[in-house]
Amino acid sequence: MKGVILHGGHGTRLRPLTHTGPKQLIPVANKPISQYVLEDLRDSGIKDIAIILGDIMPEKVKNHYGDGSKFGARITYIQQEKPGGIAQAVGLTEDFVKDSPFIVYLGDNLLKGGISKCVQEFKQKNYDAMILLCEVEEPQQFGVAEFDKKGNIVRLIEKPKKPPSNYALTGIYFLKPVVFEMIRKLKPSWRGELEITEALQMLMDAGYKVGHKIVEGWWKDTGTIEDIIEANTLMLDGLEPRIEGTVEDKGSIQGRVSVGKNAYIKKGALVRGPAIIGANTRIEKDVYIGPYTSIGNNVQIKKGEIENSIVMDNCTIEIDTKITDSMIGADSEIITNNKGPKGHKLIVGENSKIVF
Ligand code: DAU
Repeated sequence: MKGVILHGGHGTRLRPLTHTGPKQLIPVANKPISQYVLEDLRDSGIKDIAIILGDIMPEKVKNHYGDGSKFGARITYIQQEKPGGIAQAVGLTEDFVKDSPFIVYLGDNLLKGGISKCVQEFKQKNYDAMILLCEVEEPQQFGVAEFDKKGNIVRLIEKPKKPPSNYALTGIYFLKPVVFEMIRKLKPSWRGELEITEALQMLMDAGYKVGHKIVEGWWKDTGTIEDIIEANTLMLDGLEPRIEGTVEDKGSIQGRVSVGKNAYIKKGALVRGPAIIGANTRIEKDVYIGPYTSIGNNVQIKKGEIENSIVMDNCTIEIDTKITDSMIGADSEIITNNKGPKGHKLIVGENSKIVF
């Protein structure tokens, strides 16, 4: 089996963070979202993986993944010129896929528990395609499945105004090359895209066997800032505590905390888990890092409180107040010179300097 990771799109709802790179590289618990995807494919035995690149700094994706050997995979890069839809992106992989069954995994989807069991089921049941469904509260934001009384899927509808069920299509599709025949027949949808949901519907209409499975555990589509902060919380909930750096006073660590290589936590600081502190990061005296916080590599937290937030690599923070529910892009500096309001929610793009 082969794998395809979608790494394109414009990520408009994640600006300013997506002005300087694709959304799938945003870190959650100090790892790019698409790396969880790649590792899930690899851990399910799929080593031959194509990454579909978009037009927002695709070189950053290539720099991170290289030829895939560091991650135990073989990567082929395929460029998508414009975000013409998931099905249009999948259509570009025909030469890569050849006659193999394959999995398309959206690079911004996170799945607890992984796809291994689904891969087995797809092989055993000899489906022509299989989809993974998850019960959600707002199905109108997704592709949605309609069932008959026996529980068989009768229809798949993209972003319906009146959803026929609460079961959303996750962005993980188990496919066979016959899907390319359907993609060739697609016309752009109301949002101007070639929809994979419609290609699946065409497979069903033509009598192909389309199976489904319901997600066990959780699934998260990380389209918005709130989604990413929540994904960070979910990932940190499963964090393995590990101390590789220096903690001057053991009392500075409470709960499940991971401290990376060469990180340094000064006496008088408090890190309350679940939290992750990256390599070479320094947390000074009197700093408070609260639960559900991910601090990247080479970060200096000189003063202040941070909770339920993501601080990316190479940042410096020296504040008199508290930052909560925030995302601070890499290489940024946040400095306050006065007490001001008690807390701030900040969404800061890469390489910014904020003084207030
Ligand atoms: O996340 C699950 C949902 O993903 C499904 O329920 C929907 O049926 C499916 O259409 C899709 O909906 P979204 O509106 O969330 O798709 P989005 O445009 O956000 O793109 C999903 C991913 O695919 C994202 O990582 C960007 C990438 N992408 C998207 C397009 C349109 C590409 O690489 N190329 C593209 O042309």
